[in-house]
Amino acid sequence: MRSAIDIIDFSTEEIEELLATALDIIADPDKYADACRRKKLATLFFEPSTRTRLSFEAAMYELGGNVISVSSAASSSASKGESVADTVKVVSNYADIIAMRHPKEGAALVAANNATIPVINAGDGGHCHPTQTMADLLTIRREKGAFEGLTIGLCGDLKFGRTVHSLINAMVRYDNVKFVLISPEELKLPSYVKKDVLQARKIPYVQTTSLEEVMPDLDVLYMTRVQQERFFNEEDYLRLRDTYILDTRKLEAAKKDMIIMHPLPRVNEISVAVDDDPRACYFKQTLNGKYMRMALILKLLKEAGTL
Ligand code: CP
Repeated sequence: MRSAIDIIDFSTEEIEELLATALDIIADPDKYADACRRKKLATLFFEPSTRTRLSFEAAMYELGGNVISVSSAASSSASKGESVADTVKVVSNYADIIAMRHPKEGAALVAANNATIPVINAGDGGHCHPTQTMADLLTIRREKGAFEGLTIGLCGDLKFGRTVHSLINAMVRYDNVKFVLISPEELKLPSYVKKDVLQARKIPYVQTTSLEEVMPDLDVLYMTRVQQERFFNEEDYLRLRDTYILDTRKLEAAKKDMIIMHPLPRVNEISVAVDDDPRACYFKQTLNGKYMRMALILKLLKEAGTL
């Protein structure tokens, strides 16, 4: 059974196919309005979410399907100690496809190995978040036209930011992409991503602690939130959380056609005044996420023989 656990599960051709489907949905949504009639999506969210859960649910409704949902661990039998494996075996009897978020790295893979329907990873701990990456890719394609040749600045919590890890794994496939890794020492990109992905593929990258110094070089600035929920120590979180605050003054040094991205939710890392800058794309990202999730649901249900 084909599931979507990590962006590396998808070939570049498949990513292009998903982007093409999403663009076709945007161009002609009526064509897809009944595509998933009588099909059910189960959203199992054992960790908080606004965008991912609601955009999955909106995606299934816009495909003509239905949704059943667990919106928190506390409201499900996980709070009584039920395992992920048992939960998805049960939910496989009620739905055609699962989108699951869980605080533990690897939980989505456990789910996929035990479900009899496709499982989509909607975020597993600090590991990865493939459908956020799909949203990011559609945003970059729509705003910049192409992936090739871009210099991408990743700023903030590069250690725990799962969206950053997934985006790097997607963007390294395209020619002449460079990365600028902007973070405090304590929140640097994990060595397994640096060594196994960037260095292994000889992708150019620089590491810095200064956003201001590299701002003029960037085509894409991808801001991230310091992930409070992954810190063991409150004191460290409080010390690091406001390291980078993007404001209109700092943006004066940026290219006129640079795009500003953020997976959201934001806390302080982008000043609200930046929202009015035409380069701000983070709310567009949330809409693009719905279209890519529609494309992914269609693909997985077709491959499962359900559609
Ligand atoms: N970007 C993202 O995953 O947002 P939520 O946590 O609100 O789903």
